[in-house]
Amino acid sequence: MSDLKVLIVCLGNICRSPMGEAVLRDVAKKRGVDMFVDSCGTAAYHAGEEPDGRTISTCAQHNIPIEHSARQIQTSDFTQFTHILAADDSNLRNLERVKPKNATAEVCLWGSYLDNKPIADPYYGGINGFERVYQQCLSLSNAFLDQVANDRHSQYL
Ligand SMILES: *[C@@H]1O[C@H](CO)[C@@H](O)[C@H](O)[C@H]1NC(C)=O
Repeated sequence: MSDLKVLIVCLGNICRSPMGEAVLRDVAKKRGVDMFVDSCGTAAYHAGEEPDGRTISTCAQHNIPIEHSARQIQTSDFTQFTHILAADDSNLRNLERVKPKNATAEVCLWGSYLDNKPIADPYYGGINGFERVYQQCLSLSNAFLDQVANDRHSQYL
């Protein structure tokens, strides 16, 4: 049983981070990595809402199950999760600002596992932007698991 607990974070928790959560969970399952995945936003203004319709339809096109109710980051997340992965630099700065002193989670840009690139907010664009976010989440999920799942696994060899 893996003790990996990963929280994907964007601004409102309706476009990028619920997609990232769904994709990372799916990729981990396909790779046989047992881990807990959740997502949240740095802001609360969409709290309780379902993911954006374009995030849901993009996931459906790729047969990725998605179900999430938006929520804001909370202090306990920093001790409950092992990894808190920010979609962009603004999200990362906001996380650092609310991070408690006793935080145990690694807090970083998700892109730091691959190319240091942010996931751009697709909210004000068309559906193509959501497909780009999907492709990025897929690459980032594999890059993250390449490093973290293998590292963890090697501890037990
Ligand atoms: C960490 O610190 C926060 C206050 O900043 C506190 O509410 C919380 O209980 C602490 N968590 C643990 C696991 O000690």
